[in-house]
Amino acid sequence: MSNHVLGILCSGRGSNMQSILAAIDAGQIKASVGVVLTDKPEAKALTLAREKGLRSVCINRKACSTQQEFEEKLVAELRAAGVTLVILAGFMRILSPYFVGEYRHQILNIHPSLLPSFGGAHAHRDVLAYGTKVSGCTIHFVDEGMDHGPIILQDTVPVLDGDTEEILAARVLQKEHILYPKAIELYVDGRLELVDDRHVRIKQ
Ligand code: GAR
Repeated sequence: MSNHVLGILCSGRGSNMQSILAAIDAGQIKASVGVVLTDKPEAKALTLAREKGLRSVCINRKACSTQQEFEEKLVAELRAAGVTLVILAGFMRILSPYFVGEYRHQILNIHPSLLPSFGGAHAHRDVLAYGTKVSGCTIHFVDEGMDHGPIILQDTVPVLDGDTEEILAARVLQKEHILYPKAIELYVDGRLELVDDRHVRIKQ
């Protein structure tokens, strides 16, 4: 076990969180989970985390008067849990430079497209509308830009005739559930080197 403590932020279903928890249980990721945070009380991830006996807290964005107040509450929970690596796993909110500065180079995000193409909230819809023949998913460090930080890992899937958003999303999600645990494993094992603000080297 490394000394790394994960803080996982989710907004909804939590299937990526589940794949990460499974990888911890299997010994692939040598870290513990300090806290699971959601921005929505109805997030299924909250129930899943509670069932696993994890500390889980909803910081309801709608109950906060400003983004700063919301983010200060997130940071307070992360600090109280001793978090060393923040995992955005289907967290559908943009974080401000304040939050990014509190955990610089210690925040990972997953996005369901091959960045820098098709960032934003409707990746699969945008892929299908554009007509690309491949899509995929990206794990990257979070910086101040949206879906912008240096890329750690990517994987691809074909886009097939007849795909709907749901079908494509399910194909990409299978890859996400392998890729995110792998990227976290690399991070906690100290194998990621940030060469500059765009390039991540994976040490052998
Ligand atoms: C995942 O497909 C993830 O890549 C995406 O939301 C889904 C969450 O599913 N994230 C984004 O679109 C971030 N911009 P999950 O809650 O089952 O992990």
